[in-house]
Amino acid sequence: MKPLVVYYSQTGNTEKVAKRIFYVLPDIEKAIKTINEINYKEITNWDTIFLGSPVHIHTLPKKVKEFFKNMPPDYHPNIALFITYGVQLEKFYKGAIDITEYYCNNYSLNFLGAYSCLGKHNHLKEFSKIFPDKVDWVRETSEGHPDESDLKKAEDWALKIVKKVDH
Ligand SMILES: Cc1cc2nc3c(=O)[nH]c(=O)nc-3n(C[C@H](O)[C@H](O)[C@H](O)COP(=O)(O)O)c2cc1C
Repeated sequence: MKPLVVYYSQTGNTEKVAKRIFYVLPDIEKAIKTINEINYKEITNWDTIFLGSPVHIHTLPKKVKEFFKNMPPDYHPNIALFITYGVQLEKFYKGAIDITEYYCNNYSLNFLGAYSCLGKHNHLKEFSKIFPDKVDWVRETSEGHPDESDLKKAEDWALKIVKKVDH
C-alpha cells in the first residue's frame, strides 16, 4: 500500500485528524498534503487516498468536489473519506459521505468507507441566523472537538482500512 493523505481544512479540525491518520500509517512510502498542494500529474504514484474534508452546507466544499473532477481519467485509486462536522445530527453531515460515494462510482474509484467526527463549529454566526434555537446546543456539543477520543477512533479506523487494502 502506498497511501496519500489529502485534506482541506479552514480552521484546523480536519487537519488534526489528517495528521493523526498519517502518523499511524505504517512506515512505508507515504505522504500528507493539503488539497492545494496536489499535483494531479503525480498523484498516480499513490494507490490509496485518505481524503479529509469539513462538511459545508450538508455536503463537501467546492474545493473537495473539484478534487474528484481533477483526477486523471485513467487513475482508479482506493478512496477512504474522513470528515469533521459541527452539528451532531446525521442529516447535517451524511450528504458529504453520500456525494463521495457518488463521485467514486462516477469516476470508477474504489470507495473503502468513511470516518466522521465532530469538529468545533466554525460557522456559528451564519448557523444562528437559520437555526437560532439550535445554536447554543451546537456550540456546546462541538466545543473541544476533535478531542483525543475522536482522534484515537480515527487512528483505529485508518488501521482497519490498511488491513482491508493489504489483504
Ligand atoms: C460554510 C460552512 C458551512 C458549514 N456547514 C455545515 C453543515 O452543513 N453541517 C455541519 O455539521 N457542519 C457544518 N459546518 C461546520 C464545519 O463542518 C465544522 O466546523 C468542521 O469541523 C470545520 O473543519 P475545519 O476546521 O477542518 O475547516 C460548516 C462550516 C462552514 C464554514
